Amino acid sequence: MENRKLAVLLSGRGSNFLAIHEAIRRGDLRAEICCVLSNVAEAAGLARAREFGYPGLFLPSKGVERAEFDRRMLAALRPMDPALICLAGFMRVLSPEFVAAYRGRILNIHPALLPSFPGLHAQRQALEYGVRITGCTVHLVDEGVDTGPILLQRAVEVQEGDSEETLSARILKQEHDIYWRAIAIMLERRGNTGLQTSSPGPQN
Ligand code: GRF
Repeated sequence: MENRKLAVLLSGRGSNFLAIHEAIRRGDLRAEICCVLSNVAEAAGLARAREFGYPGLFLPSKGVERAEFDRRMLAALRPMDPALICLAGFMRVLSPEFVAAYRGRILNIHPALLPSFPGLHAQRQALEYGVRITGCTVHLVDEGVDTGPILLQRAVEVQEGDSEETLSARILKQEHDIYWRAIAIMLERRGNTGLQTSSPGPQN
């Protein structure tokens, strides 16, 4: 059986999670959300996930050391056997152990054309720099912050008089249209890139 299960990790609003859910519902993306995991109990995205009937997992990260938190995430995710891990506004850097466990199978969406403007407040960074074109990027996650191979990008023009809010809203609209497409690309690729369908574990 093909594994098309997605684990979505989020810390807030969850509009990218909703866009993925919608793409599945419309039939544009053939995948299944196996769980939504959040490190923030009151994340709006987690509440929506539970409303939709997805397993919604809250794992508190406050005061927990990064490596330990990520070990707890790995333990929680393992039985669900996700094919891909989709970071959707997950406000944490992953430990090398987590990245290694799902290498090549962790996706992130970033509101800028990487490698420009990594890190927080990417839209503000773009405005402050004065670029005329910015956008969004879906990429595979490696040990760095917003580094890793790029899967899809979409350009967005900066308009005269744009504020951080107006620019962010236009970028977000494009984020919602590219994330599910990047997931589809990854799921189609899986057959011929040797990505595992089983739970991550030591390889011989
Ligand atoms: C998005 O702008 C995404 O690019 C960034 O965090 C934000 C999450 O928004 N990584 P949402 O929670 O998906 O609405």
